[in-house]
Amino acid sequence: MTRSIDGIGLGLRYDLATELLERNPASVSWLEIHPENYLNRGGRYEEMLDLARQDWPIVTHGLSACLGSPEPFDPGYTAELRELLSDLEVPWHSEHLCLGAVDDRFFHDLLPLPFTDEAAGIASRRLIELRDAIDRPLALENASYYASQRADGLEEADFVVEVLERADAKLLLDVNNVYVNSRNFDFDPKAYIDKIPAHRVVQIHVAGHFVRDDGLRIDTHGEPVPDDVYALLAYTLKKIGPVPVLLERDNNVPPLDELLGEIDELWAIYRRATGALHAG
Ligand SMILES: [Fe+2]
Repeated sequence: MTRSIDGIGLGLRYDLATELLERNPASVSWLEIHPENYLNRGGRYEEMLDLARQDWPIVTHGLSACLGSPEPFDPGYTAELRELLSDLEVPWHSEHLCLGAVDDRFFHDLLPLPFTDEAAGIASRRLIELRDAIDRPLALENASYYASQRADGLEEADFVVEVLERADAKLLLDVNNVYVNSRNFDFDPKAYIDKIPAHRVVQIHVAGHFVRDDGLRIDTHGEPVPDDVYALLAYTLKKIGPVPVLLERDNNVPPLDELLGEIDELWAIYRRATGALHAG
């Protein structure tokens, strides 16, 4: 039977897997993995996943099928992905609302889309195509970006909602990305959250980011979660209810105890904001 994803989760990353799997901390309720790390991999990765599955329910977060790219999906990749997701019994899979490839060239980066009607059409069609191919609910994740948008495009939140509505899709709401973009491009992050239909949100990401000397904020997933992102999470959970929250830490990974301290802070916010009676 599929185990439910709720409360606070942590991304299973190679650098922290050994200690995490040995200690099995009760405050971590579920894990998120990148399927690209496990497809056709074997070895230590397969062993990690087998151990993780014994103790935690798992959701998957893709890195390579960017929803805004105009390229067709590789049917070999989608077939393997479908098999893995079925094996893991994930309740949903997620992918980024971004551009990742053109003319068979992969950028290995999550590049921003223009917030236009045409881009919303491409992304929504592609989302439906991937959802059909994996035969499972698919959530899009709002991305961070560093290039300003054309003045005749939509605002970012309106663009995200447009894709969600056209594809009748779910949202992985990354509040750190909303915050980073709001500071880099001078908009109100709470006004962004207010535009998101609560019933679409299945999962939240939080993370830390790097602040350059010139003030530009870079979505590194390599710093502790800052107070402003915790505050935006609290605002978001009050608005949309008890949605599972994942702590993303991909770079500059600290000792597990430091991450567990952030997990405890997230639990406190989660409980305060939602009144949920999780034991933690
Ligand atoms: Fe994220």
